[in-house]
Amino acid sequence: MKLTQRPRRNRRSEALRQMIAETELRVSQLVLPLFLVEGKGQKQAIASMPGIFRLSPDLILEEIGKAAQLGVKTFDLFPALPESKKDSTGTESLNPNGLLPTTLKMIRDKYPDVTLITDVALDPYSSDGHDGVVRDGIIVNDETVEILAKMCVVHAKAGADMVSPSDMMDGRVGAIREMLDSEGFTDTGILSYSVKYASSFYGPFREALDSAPKFGDKKTYQMDFRNSREALREIDLDVAEGADMVMVKPALSYLDVIAKVKAHCNVPVAAYNVSGEYGLIKAGAKAGIIDETRAMVETLYSMRRAGADVIFTYFALPMAEWLNT
Ligand code: PBG
Repeated sequence: MKLTQRPRRNRRSEALRQMIAETELRVSQLVLPLFLVEGKGQKQAIASMPGIFRLSPDLILEEIGKAAQLGVKTFDLFPALPESKKDSTGTESLNPNGLLPTTLKMIRDKYPDVTLITDVALDPYSSDGHDGVVRDGIIVNDETVEILAKMCVVHAKAGADMVSPSDMMDGRVGAIREMLDSEGFTDTGILSYSVKYASSFYGPFREALDSAPKFGDKKTYQMDFRNSREALREIDLDVAEGADMVMVKPALSYLDVIAKVKAHCNVPVAAYNVSGEYGLIKAGAKAGIIDETRAMVETLYSMRRAGADVIFTYFALPMAEWLNT
């Protein structure tokens, strides 16, 4: 055959493929989410997330040490609280001596150089399992925002580098920025879950925190998966309100949204490779349907290719090991 163009010529050898690969992924772009539980020596398995555990503060310190050795230096912390510490307004979220703030301080003391991000929403603290205060079956916006802003000050005081509102209330980024500034935390960053969809892929996370909604769903605050123009509206608002970074979540079913958001704004874009995406790869590998490592590598690179600058992933440690060898 007489062909001028033969794209296969560029794929002939591993060396050639390496030379022209368009997408890079660095260990420093990975963020490891960590589930915290009270006590000592606690390492609790999460059935739908093999390889991920709820860890007590002493073991969280060990895990962070291990991760840092691999080059993973950014962590996102989620407390799993007993039902007895939950109420309808999430009072425990403002306790400066609570599980999360005390653990933050311990980490800060032992590892001054790591970056600590905290998730900001009421669900771990809410007896209703919602991200905000519930009144007459409605998740009320403005009252929730006030609590969230106070929660951010608690986290900042305990040593958080960045707070990460995942609640999808309107106006929370602006309120948080104002409250942090007024308390002197002008250097504490805000990584906003700007574009967070009401998704079926959060199931294992809700098992990890025992935080599933007690009634209804989260569709009055999280986004409808059919929309992507609306994502840009959320991004514009959050950036105008002071977000330092924005996030799209989940990642895999929303690569188009990541690409759109990346083209649209000038702040770093994070993608959250969520618990269900992790669990599916694990389960698929166990069932012999896919090769776990190759599927992990391919999916994380696809998020980078779509435009994510930062990736939150439960695969952070195995991916770092892969990248380091
Ligand atoms: C809480 C929160 C959720 C996740 C991160 N923060 C769950 C939810 O909104 O129901 C999901 C993370 C994951 O599935 O890995 N607001």
